[in-house]
Amino acid sequence: MSNLLITGGAGFIGVNLVKWWLENHTADNIVVLDALTYAGNATSLEDVLGHANLNFIHGDIKDTPLVESLLRDHDIDLIIHLAAESHVDRSIEGPDEFIDTNVIGTHSLLKAARTVWCESGTWRKHRFHHVSTDEVYGSLGEDDPPFCEMTPYAPNSPYSASKAASDHLVRAYHHTFGMEVTTTNCSNNYGPYQFPEKLIPLILTNILRGKELPIYGDGMNVRDWLHVSDHCRGIAMAVAHGRVGETYCIGGRNEAPNLDIVNELCHQVEERFEKNPRLKDSFPHCPAGRGEKNTSLITYVTDRPGHDRRYAIDPTKASKEIGYEPLMTFVSGISETVDWYLGNQSWVERVMDGSYRTWIENNYQDRS
Ligand code: NAD
Ligand code: DAU
Repeated sequence: MSNLLITGGAGFIGVNLVKWWLENHTADNIVVLDALTYAGNATSLEDVLGHANLNFIHGDIKDTPLVESLLRDHDIDLIIHLAAESHVDRSIEGPDEFIDTNVIGTHSLLKAARTVWCESGTWRKHRFHHVSTDEVYGSLGEDDPPFCEMTPYAPNSPYSASKAASDHLVRAYHHTFGMEVTTTNCSNNYGPYQFPEKLIPLILTNILRGKELPIYGDGMNVRDWLHVSDHCRGIAMAVAHGRVGETYCIGGRNEAPNLDIVNELCHQVEERFEKNPRLKDSFPHCPAGRGEKNTSLITYVTDRPGHDRRYAIDPTKASKEIGYEPLMTFVSGISETVDWYLGNQSWVERVMDGSYRTWIENNYQDRS
């Protein structure tokens, strides 16, 4: 049995992880610590907020007295650290918050954990699991072998540089102070509760609203897409079976260029409209409702500065050492995700506060 602190538990992966953990580790107690930035939404947890094994705390990982008291009061022996600023485009518009949360915030958390777990001079049973990204490894050429744990770090965006810095701090706390850490570096996640600024939920949201579908550059940048439930399993396996001090690359063995993903989403939404004619009343601006192609909304826009060309993960080490394999195929995962966004537009509306809605209105032309 564990008493866990999950930071960033109201964000996309955090919400999925909290729900997955409550279902699969029924004896564990979970404390969620989340600052509820634009990306964090307590309403995503509303179906589990009353759960006897869950405590939700609205607070900042940089609030050292708060974190130390949570670690003591709840006798926390496992931290799974997800809290971060996570969107590459935002890190290009304004890097400061990324340094503040991802670097300073991670260091504050490590310091608090060290203080409490080591306060009597002897380490208590503990694990600090750090959730990181494949973006720390930089960008691959078309024929390069996929990233693995031995790939040298070469982060290219302020986001990936801040995550790389946090990875190094976690490593240093193990090497220098003996903290028991593991890290996972994961590829692009998709699934329910993802904020509609990331490619897949943004495209689905814009298709349904008849807004342009922005493709950066030539649309041939490649990502390795993983269903969030497989990431959650991978994190749990690294915690349970990972060797202390080690890192594990988690991926989906599922590389695809962005344009293929966007075309697939357009197609899947058309299929849903064909099967269910009532959808056109709910989404009157969607081209599929008028019998038109959703791909008519595709718009090539200026490329992201410094846009990494290709990410791919070789998960061999995770497979051999912790038994990780992705279980969800892209076909079933994306189909389930399309259905989730079709059925949960009220969630999308709720998380898009006034300023974000205005931003969408101003940035994406209406094509309906
Ligand atoms: P997200 O942006 O959806 O959620 C981040 C959460 O962190 C939000 O709930 C936010 O309120 C919270 N947060 C931000 N600053 C905080 C602070 N100072 N104190 C407490 N909470 C704070 O991010 P996500 O996509 O769920 O990603 C979670 C983690 O996984 C991040 O560390 C990210 O780098 C990593 N990751 C994400 C992906 C992906 O594809 N989304 C892939 C690999 C790794
Ligand atoms: O690889 C893991 C990373 O995946 C995580 O660490 C990040 O937190 C997560 O945001 C994600 O980063 P990406 O930059 O790869 O994801 P994003 O959804 O922003 O973009 C995916 C691809 O789609 C990328 O090549 C840029 C492109 N894109 C994105 C948006 C938002 C577009 O062409 N148009 C868009 O409007």
